[in-house]
Amino acid sequence: MKHPEDPSGVSRRGFLKGASLGVAASTVLGSARAEVKEASGVPDARLLKAADEHEISFVLNGEKTKAKVRTGHTLLETLRDQLDKTGTKLVCDFGTCGACTVLVDGKPVNSCLTLAVDVAGHQVETIEGMEQNGKLHPIQEAFCAEDGLQCGFCTPGMVMSSKALLDANPKPSLDETKAALSGNLCRCGTYINIFRAVERASKGK
Ligand code: FES
Ligand code: FES
Repeated sequence: MKHPEDPSGVSRRGFLKGASLGVAASTVLGSARAEVKEASGVPDARLLKAADEHEISFVLNGEKTKAKVRTGHTLLETLRDQLDKTGTKLVCDFGTCGACTVLVDGKPVNSCLTLAVDVAGHQVETIEGMEQNGKLHPIQEAFCAEDGLQCGFCTPGMVMSSKALLDANPKPSLDETKAALSGNLCRCGTYINIFRAVERASKGK
């Protein structure tokens, strides 16, 4: 019944009735949404996360290696954050500088652009695999001998690209060396010494 002094024209009983209907309606709607969600088969975020974990196996610097990765994880993230191979550097994270270069089946790749799941079953070489029995690889020796580095941040990528070049073409011309290293940038401008280092390594000095 309408209160005689209620200017809105809504009685107290009418308001309470409406409110309780509203609560009942939202409860029904809520359970209906839950049923729809269940019926739609859309999993929640935790299930999605668990479903997106993959164990991959590959050979890293000659050793069988396993890692648990998500679909979107890059090889660079997996190497640095999970496998503690921090010699491979993160600079641009965009495929433009070559600091993150590693070898996959002997070919240089930007590990910041390579999905970890894509190296499953493949051979990966990083700068950590160059030294053998405490002795630097001849290419590393040549970089030291020719002062082929200043800050050293580009160096692991430069060395890996140089290895890919010399493995495929042991006696490259200067132009071939420049072409092979064209994806590796050196902000310190050490290019001349790097090219000399590759030449020295190619001559086995
Ligand atoms: S960090 Fe991968 S290309 Fe620069
Ligand atoms: S030595 Fe510094 S970026 Fe190349």
